[in-house]
Amino acid sequence: MAVKTLEVRPLPPPHPDSTVDFGAEISNVDLENLSEADFQVIRNALYNSHVVVLKNQAGLSPRAQYELTKRFDPASDNYGHGKTLDAKRSVLHPDLKTIPHQPQVQVIGNGFYEEYEGLKNITLKHPHHKTFHKEIIPEEDDLDATRFYRWHIDAALYALNPPKVTSLLAVKVPAGRRQTLRFDDGTGEEMDVPLGTTAFVSGQNMYNLLSEEDKEFVRNAKVEYAPHPYIWMSPAKSRSDGLGMISEGLELPLSDLPPINEADIKILPMCWKNPNGGLALQIHPSAIKAIHMPNGEVMTDLKEVRELVHRLQRPAISAQHVYPHDWVEGDLVLFNNQGVLHSVVGAFSPEEQRLFRQCNLASSEGVMGPDGKLY
Ligand SMILES: [Fe+2]
Repeated sequence: MAVKTLEVRPLPPPHPDSTVDFGAEISNVDLENLSEADFQVIRNALYNSHVVVLKNQAGLSPRAQYELTKRFDPASDNYGHGKTLDAKRSVLHPDLKTIPHQPQVQVIGNGFYEEYEGLKNITLKHPHHKTFHKEIIPEEDDLDATRFYRWHIDAALYALNPPKVTSLLAVKVPAGRRQTLRFDDGTGEEMDVPLGTTAFVSGQNMYNLLSEEDKEFVRNAKVEYAPHPYIWMSPAKSRSDGLGMISEGLELPLSDLPPINEADIKILPMCWKNPNGGLALQIHPSAIKAIHMPNGEVMTDLKEVRELVHRLQRPAISAQHVYPHDWVEGDLVLFNNQGVLHSVVGAFSPEEQRLFRQCNLASSEGVMGPDGKLY
């Protein structure tokens, strides 16, 4: 009998002007009984294409989702944010509900559900930019227009290592209206996007778009993240493009945070090495606190730090570089969390029902810097 190999197809460009060169699609994978050879096809697709859409996975169990996610890093086990989601002050707290029988898998979405995987009478709320951005889209435009909510890497950025892979399963997707995504950053840039898309950009493209001088800088600079960053940033507000915070001195003083263990503070390289080659500019813009410069100095002026990082990252979130995934129920998207940035997008009405499952695991090892060392 001939052995059936999985077919990996590049994703079609999201629009005619797109320069997106990442993303792949695989149909008909049996994830409940995945052979090692088929897993290696998926793993290679992930590190070559960074975003891999596995179609028709509506029946996938939370356990199989967890096991597939873990297979990329067998020594990992804890959810990427550990137990920090319990902290009521965290900006992540309202967005995620933990599946009781599979605590590494979280439920996210919009609307009321009587029962899902042991969770009873849950109300999910799609994150809305009005709770996070300083300037908001007027109420009367709310269902037509949207923003990038927050560009990020899935990572605690304190005590735990950034997960290698995130899996996102679309269980319920509201029917197909579209929205206009506004950058509202003075450029006039806009994008037509499917309702509730997840937007991805490539960290490698973000690096490649830099000048030679900036490339040398980002290869040699490091970012210091705030301790308990999602609590620290909670009173602050984001820029309208979702790419970092506005500096108004609103961040919580360190004395108001949970106890800080100095050894748990993350100082990570700006560039991370991809297992299949290439460097990605990987900075979580809203959690940054200082820059350790190549000359050994530390830049601590938050406004200056944020302006510098925004200048480096902004070119790569322009519309032509963004892949906005058009979700179909049963899509299981795996993304290379150490090689892309992503953002929630969309503004739903309360009756628009959306239910997704997310899983990522704090990596068992640090991220690889340009020097080949783990941080
Ligand atoms: Fe995320």
